[in-house]
Parts: sequence; C-alpha cells; structure tokens
Amino acid sequence: MGIKVSASILGCDLANLESEIRRAELAGADCIHFDVMDGVFVNNISFGLPVLKSAKKVSGLPIDVHLMIKDPERYIERFIDCGADNITFHLEAAHDPEQCIKICKEKGASVGISVKPATDIRAVYPYLDKIDMVLIMTVEPGFGGQGFICEMIEKIKALDEKIKEQGLSTVIQVDGGINEKTAPQAVLSGATNLVAGTYLFGSKDISSRVKKLKESACR
Ligand code: DX5
Ligand code: ZN
Repeated sequence: MGIKVSASILGCDLANLESEIRRAELAGADCIHFDVMDGVFVNNISFGLPVLKSAKKVSGLPIDVHLMIKDPERYIERFIDCGADNITFHLEAAHDPEQCIKICKEKGASVGISVKPATDIRAVYPYLDKIDMVLIMTVEPGFGGQGFICEMIEKIKALDEKIKEQGLSTVIQVDGGINEKTAPQAVLSGATNLVAGTYLFGSKDISSRVKKLKESACR
C-alpha cells in the first residue's frame, strides 16, 4: 500500500500560512494536518475554527483535523463546516465516541480515533469497523518537536494484526517525532499514514523529505 504524508502545519511558519501550505502541496504531501489544542485536554493552545477556514481557502489538499480537545462532540460539526475533510478525535476526551463517529459520517467527513501513548490500544478495537483511521500518538500530544517513543512500535504491530484479522482496511496513522529514521520502523509495523511537522517544515528542501518518508516502505 502507498504511504501517505500528512504535513502538520503546527511545525510551519504560521506568519506565512498560505505559502507554507503551498510548499507542502508542491512537495507532494497528501494532506494538511491541522492540530487543534484547547489547553485542557493537552497542555497547550494552538489554533481553531477561523484559522481552519482560512487554511481551507488556500489549500488544494484535504485537511486532516486532529482534535486534541475535551468533549469533541461539541465542536466536530463546526470543524467540518469550516473545511475539515477528516476529523480525528481522542478516545480519552470523548464522552460518546459513537456519537462523534455518527456526526462525521452524517456530515460526509472521514473519521479517525486517536490514542495517547499510555492508552491501551485494545480500547479502539470496538470501533475499528466503524472508522476510517486510527491515529497512534508516538509522542505525548501537545507539542511538536519531541522524540518518537519507540515503545509505540508494539502498539502499531498489535493494531495492524487486529485490523488484518478482522479483514478491515482501517488506516494506521502515526504522529509525533516522525522523520527518515523513525518512519521506516512505523511503516514496517503497519502504519501507512505519516504525520510530520518539524521534519518537513524545518527543511528548505521539503520535497526530498516528503520523498524520503514515502520511500519508508523500501528501507
Ligand atoms: C503533537 C501534534 C503533532 C505535531 C507533530 O501533539 O499532534 O501533529 O505537529 O510534530 P513533530 O512532527 O514535530 O513531532
Ligand atoms: Zn497531530
């Protein structure tokens, strides 16, 4: 299966959001990853609805919204209305995951469930046949630029096994500390969607970095 790269704009120059999105697009990224933090579920605040609306206007790529917010069911509809093509919410933050999934489906967005590093991956198993993607956090959510937590490899493998056992096509996405060294490990374990912020936007030559991530399956 082909590897998809989701460029996390948390790592870009936000004063030049339009040109940074364009840079990711021209480099061959598949999605724009949009991290929403509320200062409650995670210890940081990023950006929200008005910024998403602006990003949507200038993006030729689908926007993958990663909600790191408490009670996501309160906001999902509005994020989709502002341009989210995919919504990923945290299992630990939702009161009613089924309801979150239902809202996404009714509004025509794809849906993912994310888990923090300490959350047992078995917690997502009951939802696997109802969602498009599982996001395994490979750092503690809240900040870009952290190191990949190697113990998450086992989690990716276990999830991949479960998805195959059930004959499903649920995508495994990884987020945090993804670069040319960590991506091949994640891909070998079953991840096919790689989120990267610092690694991509921290480089002048973002194209060669997207290419390296996409070649992860070959290394
Ligand atoms: C962290 C965010 C990530 C972040 C990744 O909570 O969910 O998407 O931007 O940043 P890097 O690639 O720098 O680890
Ligand atoms: Zn993210």
